[in-house]
Amino acid sequence: MDDFSYINGSLHCESVNVQTIARKFGTPLFVYSRQTIIDHYRKIAEAFGPLDPRICYSVKSCSNLNILAVLKEMGASFDVVSGGELARVLEVGVDPKRIVYAGVSKTDREINAALDAGIGWFNVESEQELETLANLAAKHNTVAQVALRVNPDVDPQTHRHTTTGKRETKFGVDLQRAANVFEEFAKNPAIKLAGLHVHIGSPVNRIEPFVESIKKTLGLIVQLSKSGHAITSINIGGGYGAHYSGEEAPTAADYATHIVPLLQDKNLTVMLEPGRSIMANAGVLIAETIFKKSSGDKKFVIVDAAMTDLIRPALYDAFHFAWPVAPAGGMIPPRRSQELKLEGTELVDIVGPVCETGDFLAKDRWLPPMSRGDLLCIFSAGAYGFSMSSQYNSRPRAAEVLVHGHEAKLIRKRETYEDLVALERQK
Ligand SMILES: Cc1ncc(COP(=O)(O)O)c(C=O)c1O
Repeated sequence: MDDFSYINGSLHCESVNVQTIARKFGTPLFVYSRQTIIDHYRKIAEAFGPLDPRICYSVKSCSNLNILAVLKEMGASFDVVSGGELARVLEVGVDPKRIVYAGVSKTDREINAALDAGIGWFNVESEQELETLANLAAKHNTVAQVALRVNPDVDPQTHRHTTTGKRETKFGVDLQRAANVFEEFAKNPAIKLAGLHVHIGSPVNRIEPFVESIKKTLGLIVQLSKSGHAITSINIGGGYGAHYSGEEAPTAADYATHIVPLLQDKNLTVMLEPGRSIMANAGVLIAETIFKKSSGDKKFVIVDAAMTDLIRPALYDAFHFAWPVAPAGGMIPPRRSQELKLEGTELVDIVGPVCETGDFLAKDRWLPPMSRGDLLCIFSAGAYGFSMSSQYNSRPRAAEVLVHGHEAKLIRKRETYEDLVALERQK
């Protein structure tokens, strides 16, 4: 599943001892495995191979330039959702034609930047956006290639904050209105309205919602073609699950078994936008134990990482498996599961230093005894970890390290107190 494993009682990333990395670069620290990124990308490429898809890595999941460079090397295309993400992808020298740009609120400045760059596809989410894009493209004397993002009103059965394909969410244009949008804009000379885009949420650990949303979108394609609108491309979005606790997510092959037959021989360019399924288990967050304390029956392990580094537990009640980097008594976890309760462990909450009760990384976990200075690993933190981090409580953001075989390379320096204030100084 990934390249993080215990060797001689200590966690390793590929061939490097995580203790050594943490002592060298400090904590909190994100550690990524290059090999895992490559394996996960390859599995998707192989599983969906019969469709010859464009795999547009979802930059929001982990946007470090060095991670983008690994994926570029693998032949990935890129899904961006802001001018900032666009700038990152251009910075690593990606062919702009390999960029697709989604998001409900693209500013004129962002649209102009994307038109200047000459990106491949705008995934447009409303009539007003389409009108604005057409006007700006006309001023650029160019034709913008557009996929209309549709909202299929399908329940992905995931957290309500990451549900994006239900009618009441802000995303896309509902299927009923989509045909009208084509009628209104298809003849506009500044846009080529040639694709449909659909993304229903994340993580989607059931395959049926994907099947349902793709079937609905294909139905629209048939309807549109009868009205003379030729659709050349379907972008089925991201949202493929990852293993946070055991084996809860379908594999790339499982998803593909059901999705590929729907799209094969349809004469459509197929695009996917995976983020989490590539990055979640390709990265971990390493923290140091600062203190332990009790309150009544409750025991706390207080570490130097916080909701500012990994907000998923606070924001989504998400589960992340946590275990010491070098557990006392060589207590190696047989699996990373929510139910794990080994003899000699104690029930604790793992919390951070931020002044919020919501600042926790794990609740009610059976952990081997931890002492001050012990390192703790929070697994599956590669996606929506660093990229959602903040400086709240004036905490400098963590450093990031990428491991390749025997080598651990710093790919983002730890922020300093100087970084916290540099943009605010008046002179
Ligand atoms: C439009 C779009 N595509 C792709 C993704 C990536 O999702 P995931 O990281 O779950 O694959 C997202 C994230 O929610 C998204 O909004």
